[in-house]
Amino acid sequence: MLRRLHHEQPDAFAFTPDNQKWAEAQLTKFPEGRQASAIIPLLWRAQEQEGWLSRPAIEHVSDMLGLAHIRGLEVATFYFMFQLQPVGSVANIQICGTTTCMICGAEDLVGVCKELIAARPHQLSDDGKFTWEEVECLGACANAPMAQIGKDYYEDLTADKLRQLISDLGAGKVPVPGPQNGRYSSEPEKGLTSLTEHESGRTQYNASVQLATDIGDTVKRIDGTEVPLLTPWQGKAANVSDEPSAAAQRDDMMPPSGPDGAQGGRRKTDAPAPRDVGASSDKHAEVPGEAPAAKAAARPKSGAVAPAQENDVKAESGTADAGTPPETLTSARDTGADDLKLIKGVGPKLETMLNGMGFYHYDQIAGWSAEEVAWVDQNLQGFKGRVSRDNWVDQAGKLARGEATEFSERAKKDKRNKE
Ligand code: FES
Repeated sequence: MLRRLHHEQPDAFAFTPDNQKWAEAQLTKFPEGRQASAIIPLLWRAQEQEGWLSRPAIEHVSDMLGLAHIRGLEVATFYFMFQLQPVGSVANIQICGTTTCMICGAEDLVGVCKELIAARPHQLSDDGKFTWEEVECLGACANAPMAQIGKDYYEDLTADKLRQLISDLGAGKVPVPGPQNGRYSSEPEKGLTSLTEHESGRTQYNASVQLATDIGDTVKRIDGTEVPLLTPWQGKAANVSDEPSAAAQRDDMMPPSGPDGAQGGRRKTDAPAPRDVGASSDKHAEVPGEAPAAKAAARPKSGAVAPAQENDVKAESGTADAGTPPETLTSARDTGADDLKLIKGVGPKLETMLNGMGFYHYDQIAGWSAEEVAWVDQNLQGFKGRVSRDNWVDQAGKLARGEATEFSERAKKDKRNKE
C-alpha cells in the first residue's frame, strides 16, 4: 500500500504545553546523542493529540530531535500505526484482514465499515466521526476476527457486534474493549480446561482490558493533562555515580505498562522499534554539552574573538583533523544571541552546542569558509556533517541580511502558535 502525505496539510503544528513538556521529557530517556530514538513516542503523541500526523507535525518532531525532515518522514510513512490523513473525530477503525481474521469473518467486518462508515478506507464518514482501514495482523489471532479501535482491541467480533460498537461510539459511549463474545481472554470458548486455580485471583477484565478501562483513553485525544509525566528525573543529572541511572529510575517509576503509546503494554503487539535513525556511529561520541563547556572554559576570558580550541577537541574526540577552526566569540554580543534554531537542521541541542563552542550569530556562520565548514562538520559530535548537509552558511547569510528562509518562516509561525 502506498503511504503518502495527505494532499491537504495544516499550516503548522505545535504540541499542547503539556504534551510539549512530556515530549521534552522523553528525550531524557536516551543517552546523549541518541535522542533520535525518541521519534516513535513523539510521533505517536503528536498523533494522539491530533488524531493523525500532518507534515508540519512530522517536521516539528524531526526538528525537536535534530533530524532532517526526511528521516522523520521515513519513519512516519513506514509504520501503518501512523495515520497520514485526517481520521474520524471519534475513531479510526482498523480491521485486521490477515489470514486468521479473514477466515473467521474479517470480510464481514469490512462490509459493515463500508456500509456504516464509507465505501473506501480512509474516507471520512458523512458525519465526520469515523474512518476505517484494513490492516495486517495485529497479533490477536486467537481472538479473530478483531479490530483495533482507537488505542484498544475489540476481539471475537461479528458483523452485528461491530455494528453495535460503531453505534455506541457514535453515541459518545466507549464500549469495553477485549473479547466481545463473553470470553475472558483467549481461553477456549467453553472455558478453561487447565490451570483453573488461577481463575480465583483475576480482575474483572483480563489485564489488557483492565488497563484500558482504568486509563479510559481508548478513543480520546491526548493533550498531556490526562497522564502523569513519567519522567520525574527530568532536569536531574543522569548517571551520577551516587544516583541510580536515568534508565534505572525510569524502570522504577514506570507502571507495568505505560499509557504513552510507545511504551505500549496494553496491546498484544507493539510495532517493532525502528533502527536508531539518528544515532551517530562514532563510538567515541562525546556527551554534547560537556565538550563545549570544556572548550568555553579554555577560551580567553577577554577579547571578543578567539580561534576555536582545536587541540582540546582533538584530545576529546580525536576527530578534528579536517579543516580549519573558525573564529569564535567568548559570549554573545550585547544585542543577544541570534536564534540559531531558525537555521534548518539546528535544534535546541545543537544551538546549545554551537553556543558552547563560541558561535552565537548568523553572521559568524555565514562567514565560514569551506575549510571552516569542514572543521565544524567534524566537531559537531552526534551531528557530524550537519553544516554542509543543510547548507547552514547560505541559510545564515540570508538570516544575517534580515531575509527569511522558508524554514525560518515556518519555525517562527510554529513558535507564535505555541505562545
Ligand atoms: S490475523 Fe488478525 S490478529 Fe492476527
